[in-house]
Amino acid sequence: MNHLVSPSILASDFGNLQRDIEMLNRSDADWIHVDIMDGLFVPNISFGFPVVEKVRQHAQKPLDVHLMIVDPDRYLERFSKAGAEIITVHFEACTHLNRTVNAIKELGCKAGVALNPHTPVAFLEDIIEYLDLVLIMSVNPGFGGQKFIPNTYKKIADLVKLGSGRNENLHIEIDGGVDEHNARLLLDTGANVLVAGNSVFSAPDPIEAISKLKH
Ligand code: DX5
Ligand code: ZN
Repeated sequence: MNHLVSPSILASDFGNLQRDIEMLNRSDADWIHVDIMDGLFVPNISFGFPVVEKVRQHAQKPLDVHLMIVDPDRYLERFSKAGAEIITVHFEACTHLNRTVNAIKELGCKAGVALNPHTPVAFLEDIIEYLDLVLIMSVNPGFGGQKFIPNTYKKIADLVKLGSGRNENLHIEIDGGVDEHNARLLLDTGANVLVAGNSVFSAPDPIEAISKLKH
């Protein structure tokens, strides 16, 4: 599988959101990463449905929605209606993860599960076959622009092992502190989707920054 790049609009200029989405449309980005924070699961609040709907209206690429919220089951249908193609929930926020994953798929979306930096990959042992995507957090969720946690490499290797022979089409997505310096090693270790916020939107030329992550 060729790897994918999913720029995170958390780092975009919200005053010029349409402009930034149109830039992503012209770029090599494969997906658009949409970070939803509720101020409870994480100590920050990002944005909600009206913003996602506007992003959907302008975006020509799939929306990769990362829910950093408690009790995500309550909002799956609304995110699907707002235009999410991929919905990723946090392992730590789901009591009945199997049910949640099924609900996402029944909405016609791809289902992802995100792991906080301290959550072992082994906790996915009994659900790995059913997942379209696993998102490994390489920072503590809640904020863009944080420092990459190197233990991520070990977790990617663990996940490759867990998925091998059981889920060959799994997307392994890395989120937090990804840039042109660590991208190659992440991909070589087995990641195949790179999320990037600040390394794209703070770059002098975001289109070029995306292209570097893609090639
Ligand atoms: C963090 C979010 C990330 C964030 C990544 O909680 O899940 O998607 O936007 O931003 P950078 O790439 O700046 O670490
Ligand atoms: Zn994210």
